[in-house]
Amino acid sequence: MTARTRSAHELELVAKAGQYLAGGTLGNLVEDVILARGRGSRVWDVSGHEYIDYLLGSGPMLVGHAHPEVVAAVHEQLELGSTFFANNERAILLAEEISKAMPCAEKIRFCSSGTEATLYAMRVARAFRRRDRILKFEGGFHGMHDYAVMGMSPPAPAQFPAAVPDSAGIPQVVASTMLVAPFNDLETTSAIVDRHHDELAGVIVEPFQRVLAPRPGFLAGLRELTARHGIPLIFDEVVTSFRFAYGGAQEFYGVTPDLCALGKAVGGGFPLTAVAGREELMAHFDQSRVGRERFIPQVGTLSGNPIATAAGLATVRILKRPGTYERMHALGRQLKMALQSICDTAGIPARAVGEGVLFEIYFTDEDITDYRSTLKADKARLTRFVALLRERGVFRGASKFYLSIVHDERDVKETIQAFESAIAALGD
Ligand SMILES: Cc1ncc(COP(=O)(O)O)c(C=O)c1O
Repeated sequence: MTARTRSAHELELVAKAGQYLAGGTLGNLVEDVILARGRGSRVWDVSGHEYIDYLLGSGPMLVGHAHPEVVAAVHEQLELGSTFFANNERAILLAEEISKAMPCAEKIRFCSSGTEATLYAMRVARAFRRRDRILKFEGGFHGMHDYAVMGMSPPAPAQFPAAVPDSAGIPQVVASTMLVAPFNDLETTSAIVDRHHDELAGVIVEPFQRVLAPRPGFLAGLRELTARHGIPLIFDEVVTSFRFAYGGAQEFYGVTPDLCALGKAVGGGFPLTAVAGREELMAHFDQSRVGRERFIPQVGTLSGNPIATAAGLATVRILKRPGTYERMHALGRQLKMALQSICDTAGIPARAVGEGVLFEIYFTDEDITDYRSTLKADKARLTRFVALLRERGVFRGASKFYLSIVHDERDVKETIQAFESAIAALGD
């Protein structure tokens, strides 16, 4: 296997990207690969190379690229108009579907990015509790707004519960409204919440944080802790909704939060996300219910637009079919276990973590349970592994494998062959 050859056209585009895009990229996948198209579980770059895709647009393409039913639904709506800034039938039907799927979702509001969804979820908690501070977990990712970019990926972790911004340009005063706790450590989290409960507006958590599963009892413990103090618990289900189970992580782990943020798959590859939750909290979006003082205006030009809701509705209807989740989890587990065993056989210290539908390999011989343990793994080796896989026709991002419902046995077989060859090359 050799590094892929790049066409003159691709090289020209790379040069233009360097000239016109800040940092030469869209800020997402910070590599100069340029993708041209996707279909099912595969993507192609502009030089014509084909890859099995485990990036899936960072998650939204859960039913695969250009799924015929999603394409048909979007085509049909395109002919009828793209956006109205008014209620539309498909948005209402999608809200109904979400409410039936997600245990906490009595009411829904749509927005266009996961960043907005978590921003509003936090705002609802503050309006409801009439307090300012939000607790999040170290290493937890909730998008790019000022309150989210705290303790997200600190190179040198701070002392809990201090919140340190991960980005330039965030006012110091925002940091003072956030608390950071260690994921999967209920004892330390309980101590922080017990001490600060009277200042806390809410607790936000990714129920499955990045690629880390919650320890048994962690989410139930958080639920009990927050309920005891009357603090709203927010699940950031931007990744997990409609992916771990039809009812998201709240169904998968059997713990119901007060509010949740939904994203990625629910928009079928289009800009559509949502904040959803218990009626009593979501009432803050309704001035007639809470009065002017406690009302949260929520206006977004493209919120719930009919193109995105058409794609979302078509997507969730595909996902709802019997057997979908069992099959996807099983194929993913097969891949994850194969990768672990290939590393074990090669004598390369590694830990495959996560669920079949979303997993990662860390090159370390220590258990991975929280953000700090991930820092001990060999990052340079992972970066090399990702590049070796790319040369072997397997495409993924920097930090995880995403499965779709259209990955099949052939994809899995070819991917395991690529794992074997890449791990062999890694050991050389
Ligand atoms: C858990 C989680 N929350 C929020 C977001 C932000 O979503 P968006 O990129 O749509 O703003 C992401 C994006 O990856 C995410 O993974």
